[in-house]
Amino acid sequence: MINLISTATLLAVTALVSAAPKGKWFDSIGIIMSENEDFWLTAQQPAYQALIAQGVLATNYFGLSHVSEQNYAAIITGVLDPNIYRGDATTPANLNITYPTILDQLKANGLTYKQYTESYPGGCYLPDMYPDDPVNALYYKRHSPFNMISNLRGTPECSSAIGTYDDFANDVAKGTLPNYFWIIPNDLHNTHTADKDPNPFVDADPWTAAEGPKWVAAAQKANALFINTWDESRCDNTTKYPCGTHLDQQIATILWGPMVPKNTTNNKYWNHFSIARTVEDNWGLKPLATADANATAFDFLLANPSAGNPSAGNPLPSGSGGGSTSGNGTSGDQAHSAATLVKASMSLGLMGMVAGLLGVLPNVVSF
Ligand SMILES: *[C@@H]1O[C@H](CO)[C@@H](O)[C@H](O)[C@H]1NC(C)=O
Ligand SMILES: *[C@@H]1O[C@H](CO)[C@@H](O)[C@H](O)[C@H]1NC(C)=O
Ligand SMILES: *[C@@H]1O[C@H](CO)[C@@H](O)[C@H](O)[C@H]1NC(C)=O
Ligand SMILES: *[C@@H]1O[C@H](CO)[C@@H](O)[C@H](O)[C@H]1NC(C)=O
Ligand SMILES: *[C@@H]1O[C@H](CO)[C@@H](O)[C@H](O)[C@H]1NC(C)=O
Repeated sequence: MINLISTATLLAVTALVSAAPKGKWFDSIGIIMSENEDFWLTAQQPAYQALIAQGVLATNYFGLSHVSEQNYAAIITGVLDPNIYRGDATTPANLNITYPTILDQLKANGLTYKQYTESYPGGCYLPDMYPDDPVNALYYKRHSPFNMISNLRGTPECSSAIGTYDDFANDVAKGTLPNYFWIIPNDLHNTHTADKDPNPFVDADPWTAAEGPKWVAAAQKANALFINTWDESRCDNTTKYPCGTHLDQQIATILWGPMVPKNTTNNKYWNHFSIARTVEDNWGLKPLATADANATAFDFLLANPSAGNPSAGNPLPSGSGGGSTSGNGTSGDQAHSAATLVKASMSLGLMGMVAGLLGVLPNVVSF
């Protein structure tokens, strides 16, 4: 009898514990969101090269909108909504994500989430910036996706789900990294503030150099996939931000973790919807909308890292750097060395670099 009761209890406890699905590729995924920078320039920065050496540089990855917020929202909802931000962050209808989100899905499946937000005061802070003046502000709500989610911000849950960046180190140390998290660097560390310094990497590079090894160690410890991406390219093919020889919306995206091959590039076509799709595929979640359902996950990479990309390759965009692919991409055909990529990117990027030094970089991308 006692044995029967114990067995029943054990089964009940096991049922509770195993409520959350086991990830197919990873136990945790972290999205580090940087701002407004072009693929070719990012790929030349030493701190990002150090991250690339730890994983994969996606050389055919594109942002979705030249309004930052819509990119953040797309990753969370699978919807590219032009009304997420209409140019005035203080208008209540703005920055208000009301679609079903990936957080809803994770929660319904017993999976956890959190946003680690640098220079954020915590405590469900709602104003548009912190400090709350445009000269000294480092945190911006418009770059803080969890604070745009209608059914999260201002609820009791927001105090735990929207944390500070200090919480990240604490959670790594305690082994309590959630299944899904974002790291939001402040506006100096996310390459956004070309208005505060003409070189957008002046603050981001040293910060990334200091934090990068912690992110790599955390990925190892938590069996996590980390993705450092940019919301959109700085160039938008306008006269103010000409793309030159580069492609509009081509952004650097760097992935690392124990399930990712090191020091390689990959030129399969991806965009921000691929992140949502990867999360869904990892835990068997339903797609949120049509665009994420239709997107390609980072599946081949994670399923069989040592084989490179076995699928037919997309042609490498001109001006993106990197090697070329041929045939149907068997046995690592698309895994070019990061060093080759950066070298090619430097020569191809020279024209754009000169344009940048002559006046593109000091300009401000306003969103
Ligand atoms: C966001 O939209 C929802 C649904 O329309 C509305 O109930 C809520 O008040 C809005 N929140 C803000 C801050 O505008
Ligand atoms: C960008 O601008 C150039 C020059 O005006 C034009 O040839 C090219 O088609 C444009 N590309 C896109 C993607 O709009
Ligand atoms: C689905 O993907 C194809 C190509 O992969 C693309 O042409 C099409 O626009 C996508 N549809 C949606 C709804 O995103
Ligand atoms: C493509 O590669 C696969 C192995 O991954 C091979 O079976 C197939 O025959 C190849 N197709 C072509 C057209 O080369
Ligand atoms: C990355 O690969 C390149 C060549 O493919 C090599 O020169 C370089 O040393 C590698 N870097 C690391 C950190 O493994």
